[in-house]
Amino acid sequence: MPAQIISGTEIAKQIREEMKQEIAELKEKHNLVPGLVTVLVGEDPASQVYVGAKEKTAGELGIYSERYDLPADTSEKDLLALIDKLNKNPKIHGILVQLPLPKHIDETKVLYAIDPKKDVDGFHPVNVGKLMIGEPDYLPCTPHGIQQLLVRSGVQVSGAEVVVVGRSNIVGKPIANILLQKREGANATVTICHTGTKDMAFHTKRADILIVAAGKPKAITADMVKEGVVVIDVGVNRIGKTAEGKAILAGDVDFESVKEKAKAITPVPGGVGPMTITMLMLNTLRAAKLAAGLA
Ligand SMILES: NC(=O)c1ccc[n+]([C@@H]2O[C@H](COP(=O)([O-])OP(=O)(O)OC[C@H]3O[C@@H](n4cnc5c(N)ncnc54)[C@H](OP(=O)(O)O)[C@@H]3O)[C@@H](O)[C@H]2O)c1
Repeated sequence: MPAQIISGTEIAKQIREEMKQEIAELKEKHNLVPGLVTVLVGEDPASQVYVGAKEKTAGELGIYSERYDLPADTSEKDLLALIDKLNKNPKIHGILVQLPLPKHIDETKVLYAIDPKKDVDGFHPVNVGKLMIGEPDYLPCTPHGIQQLLVRSGVQVSGAEVVVVGRSNIVGKPIANILLQKREGANATVTICHTGTKDMAFHTKRADILIVAAGKPKAITADMVKEGVVVIDVGVNRIGKTAEGKAILAGDVDFESVKEKAKAITPVPGGVGPMTITMLMLNTLRAAKLAAGLA
């Protein structure tokens, strides 16, 4: 049986349609328009593309958006002053500071300065802590997207052996934490692997659901998985360029061989990627509802 391909593009589209409707209703019934601000410091081309995509998606969904493009030599003090102003702006429900920031700015200090109620990335320690104790306001975008891919593809998460490869604060740790919660779409038994793991294949072979966020092409090969596994490949690796100069992307999983054994698998691109921005919009919508006492 060929593996089911879990299309993030399709699932993200479904969620966006649902959100579009909810955003229109909020406006009609409560005169409430969710507002998102993106702050970009410097001219990193990849960051410019990401911020542009976020602005475009917000516009398509009926979310009000503002964008600040600040020069690379912006001081930390000026950036913190802008965040303070945005924290107080009632039209803005979500604040996204695009990372990485230039070296002279302390990223942690900046992320901690964002009002946790407007922290739609879910990186503020208040929101990390709330997730840890099972009372999250916001789930971080990529891990939330992964959970939605599983749930909306009909994958049984409750009781499953989930193995996560990678322990970063933006993917590995939060997805493990989300799937561990005693609630619907979670309730799994979770193992986290990293570079200190003695025998990674021992763990990955036990997985009913394998989530890979290592940032290493072909970190997972067919001999490391069992028949019938569900694989979510978070990795985005640039492994070369086409004749036209476009980047060739690959995930962390050897897709061609692993798909022969898997029950379901996400492709790269078109898997986790499209879900991340969609979840950012969902968090902005939630922030607006929370601010208005509607959630
Ligand atoms: N599609 C999206 O929206 C999206 C969003 C975020 C990230 N990503 C992609 O996902 C990947 C991971 O991102 P990240 O930010 O989590 O990366 P990261 O901060 O570099 O963390 C990578 C993690 O993987 C572990 N690791 C690396 N190689 C390993 C190996 N051979 N065996 C076992 N563990 C290994 C590392 O272990 P140690 O802790 O021991 O070093 C680390 O915990 C990247 O390719 C990134 O581009 C995609």
